[in-house]
Amino acid sequence: MSEPTTYRARTNYDEHKATIYQHRKAHKHEGEMKLLDRAFKLIPKSHTVMDLPCGGGRVFLRLASQGYKVKAGDLSDAMIAIAQQNADKAGLGITVEKADVEHLTHPDRSIDTMVCFRLFQHFPTPAIRQRAISELCRVSKQYVVLSYFSPFSWTQAKLILREKLGGRKLRKFPTSLNEVEGYFAKSGFRLVEDFGQLPYIKSLHLAVFERISE
Ligand SMILES: C[S@@+](CC[C@H](N)C(=O)[O-])C[C@H]1O[C@@H](n2cnc3c(N)ncnc32)[C@H](O)[C@@H]1O
Repeated sequence: MSEPTTYRARTNYDEHKATIYQHRKAHKHEGEMKLLDRAFKLIPKSHTVMDLPCGGGRVFLRLASQGYKVKAGDLSDAMIAIAQQNADKAGLGITVEKADVEHLTHPDRSIDTMVCFRLFQHFPTPAIRQRAISELCRVSKQYVVLSYFSPFSWTQAKLILREKLGGRKLRKFPTSLNEVEGYFAKSGFRLVEDFGQLPYIKSLHLAVFERISE
C-alpha cells in the first residue's frame, strides 16, 4: 500500500472550520499560551519570529505583545484572511503569507526563529515529518520551536482505548521526543529544552531546537 501524501489539516481548514477554530475554549487557549511563554523564555526578544502555521494568529499576537518582531504564514486562505484581520487590528503592519511548511519559498537562514504550533501531530508519515522539519530548519537562522504530541500521556491512552473499544478512529499521530530529535539532527539542530504542558497527563509538548552546524 502506498504512503499517504496528505492529511486532514492540510485540506480541511475551509471558512467554516477556520471560523470554528477561533472559538477554542478560553482555558485551553490560555494553557497553550502559557506553554508558549515558557518556551519563549529561551528566545531573545531581538529575534524576528515566523509563526507557521499561524491559523487565526493567536501565537504571533502573543509574541508581538511580548516585543518580538513577527511574520506569519498559513496554507489555508480562510485562516490567512482571519489572521490578516487580527494582525491589522493589532496594528502589526505585516502581510500574512500563503506558505506550505513542506515547501517553503524563503531563503536559507533568513528568519531568526521559526515557530510551528499545533500542526506536527497531524503529519501521518515520517517522510512528511522530515520534509517539514527540514524546511523549518533550512529557513531558520538559529531556533525552531515545535509542538508535538507525546505518546506517553493519559490523554493518548484514553484515545487509544476508545478506538480499541470501537470509538472514533485516531486522527492525530503522536511522536516520541526521540523521533522528533532524529528529524532535527538530520538538519544540524539539537534539542535545547522540551516543555510538556502537563507531562504524562496531556499530550502537548513544545520543544526548542537550536542550530549547531555551520
Ligand atoms: C490546528 S491549526 C493551528 C494553527 C495555529 N498554529 C494555532 O495554534 O492557532 C493547524 C493549521 O495548519 C495549517 N496547515 C495545514 N497544513 C499546512 C501546511 N502544509 N503548511 C502550512 N500550514 C498548514 C492549517 O491551515 C491550520 O491553520
